[in-house]
Amino acid sequence: MSESAETVKMMLPEEELDRRIRELGKEISEEFAGESVYLIGVLRGAAFFTCELAKRITIPVTIDFMSTSSYGSGTESSGEVVVKHDVEIPVEGRNIIICEDIIDSGNTLHFLLKLFRDRKAKTVKLCAMLDKPDRREVDVKVDYTGFTIPDEFVVGYGLDYDQKYRNLPYIGVVEF
Ligand code: IMP
Ligand code: MG
Repeated sequence: MSESAETVKMMLPEEELDRRIRELGKEISEEFAGESVYLIGVLRGAAFFTCELAKRITIPVTIDFMSTSSYGSGTESSGEVVVKHDVEIPVEGRNIIICEDIIDSGNTLHFLLKLFRDRKAKTVKLCAMLDKPDRREVDVKVDYTGFTIPDEFVVGYGLDYDQKYRNLPYIGVVEF
């Protein structure tokens, strides 16, 4: 691999992420006490977050993953989202929690929310590790948010820039 032209500056250290994910796990466990939840992680970015969150939930948990892509011209997404890889475990009658790495335009979550409601999930909630509200194009209600961050391009903890940095154990800002 050629050398990178960009550098990564620390934004959220591993300890902060771990602490917040524990809180989210507790909140979800309390809210669904006596029931079970079905975490659906959106690949690839939410893979780490989904697994760490699952570890902090104390009620029965089912986990599956899916991937989507949004088509658009150039770098701006058009808002048209398609499922590239679907979940295998049925969602009907279950408490779904869609786990995302980051909410940007909101288009992906808007699409997924409708998809799982149409599939007759019992409840559909959204959980995002990070939220960039300044970038919102579609109004989506995020039920559980890890951290609200400014409009900066971040990497780490599953998030990539050009498929790099997903393995960083912290969240950092890319500086070009
Ligand atoms: P949207 O909310 O439909 O625009 O989609 C958000 C998706 O865009 C996320 O799941 C990420 O894959 C990607 N994304 C948005 N902002 C960032 C960022 O700051 N770093 C890395 N990926 C990002
Ligand atoms: Mg994503």
